[in-house]
Amino acid sequence: VKIIYVEHNGTRHEVNVADGENLMEGAVQNNVPGIDGDCGGNAACATCHCYIPAEWEALTGSRSDLEDSMIELADTAKPNSRLACQIKASAALDGMEVHMPATQH
Ligand code: FES
Repeated sequence: VKIIYVEHNGTRHEVNVADGENLMEGAVQNNVPGIDGDCGGNAACATCHCYIPAEWEALTGSRSDLEDSMIELADTAKPNSRLACQIKASAALDGMEVHMPATQH
């Protein structure tokens, strides 16, 4: 599944994430800066905070309550904020862009 991680400065990282793997794992395994995954994907650290472009939002599902509460703590939160560890790669997301906040690099 092709995922394009876009840093706050516009730098793009096009990587292949295995089907079923979450988007935090995909970033960490491919050394994409800006997504750390400190909690190991448990929606508990928000170091994998990212923004999903409007055209992809419906395909990535909605935030869980836990995810919601972590995102509320981030001062860079936006309506399209997600935790990358809570989104699983699937064929439907092929070609999706994931944008990182300016505070993560
Ligand atoms: Fe910690 Fe996603 S890896 S919230």
